[in-house]
Amino acid sequence: MIALGIETSCDETAVAVVEDGFAVRANLIASQVHLHERFGGVVPEVAARAHVESLNPLLEEALAEAGIGFGEIDAVAVTTGPGLVGALLVGMAAAKAVSLATGADLVGVNHLEGHYWANFLEHGRPSPPYVSLIVSGGHTMLVHVPEMFRHVVLGQTLDDAAGEAFDKVARLIGLGFPGGPALDAMAREGDPHAIRFPRAMEDSGDYDFSMSGLKTAVLRHVKAEQAAGRDLHLPDLAASFQEAIVDVQVTKAIAAAKDVGAPTLLLGGGVVANTRLRERLAGAGAQAGIEVLFPSMALCTDNAAMIACLGSARWARGERSSLDTAADPQLRLTA
Ligand code: KG4
Ligand code: ZN
Repeated sequence: MIALGIETSCDETAVAVVEDGFAVRANLIASQVHLHERFGGVVPEVAARAHVESLNPLLEEALAEAGIGFGEIDAVAVTTGPGLVGALLVGMAAAKAVSLATGADLVGVNHLEGHYWANFLEHGRPSPPYVSLIVSGGHTMLVHVPEMFRHVVLGQTLDDAAGEAFDKVARLIGLGFPGGPALDAMAREGDPHAIRFPRAMEDSGDYDFSMSGLKTAVLRHVKAEQAAGRDLHLPDLAASFQEAIVDVQVTKAIAAAKDVGAPTLLLGGGVVANTRLRERLAGAGAQAGIEVLFPSMALCTDNAAMIACLGSARWARGERSSLDTAADPQLRLTA
């Protein structure tokens, strides 16, 4: 069974070919980072236009790399949300065109569900229940997956997503866009306990998150140091900020897994590429007797292999989307 995956929810144009659900035959990404860099963030119209330009050549390239023709595709899996509406529409139009022209089935999937499915491409598929921690540029969320394809959202961020906080603090200290990876690298040279930033909602007794207090605390620290005429020690600042985010994520994710009795914690989303988060969660999981799975770096950030993998499984249980399926920028995980 051959699935084509198409992902255009934000600023990466991605196409993949996956065989029998889990064997990746091609996984290509055209990054738009260079186009958004000078704006300091993703510009939706620029993203949509760049998807239009990149998608067809990328599609041809993916099929060539997989060594297949359009006629061999059984299912076209495409992200229908959440994401930027104009960006989503480009991928969906292409997926519908392939489906209509070749007779392959169209399967619309949720981007966030795809993020934790990335684990199954590399680690097999342990049996549920799971708790999934999804941390990306747009989301910070803890989800209970009592059985395959069923989701109960345990909590989420009340303001900024973790990736957004990384990007904003990185910009504040001059690290460019997207700042997450640069901040991660800088933090490795610093002391995570140098500055005590607030751990927002760490003891709130629920599974919600908040980043705004931390962001303000970092800004206040920078201003106070500047006012006092002291040089900022950027690696210490980066490491201390990162530690504050990571502490809360680790505490809540492990507590959630224990709470619902899930033996497996599945991580997904761009922020899971963070070295410290991976290291700390692996340690905390080992201590708590919880299996913590995270995708390799390339499968943490947006990609189409995870979309094709999830689409294959949904196709196998008979799911099909009609050609009039709409993009849904706020798409929720189905209960
Ligand atoms: O999942 P993703 O590729 O796109 C969304 O669906 O949002 O996540 C992108 C986010 C960006 O905010 C980026 O700065 C962050 O993931 N990110 C990181 C790291 N690598 C990517 N944040 C912290 N540390 C990293 N190593
Ligand atoms: Zn994503």
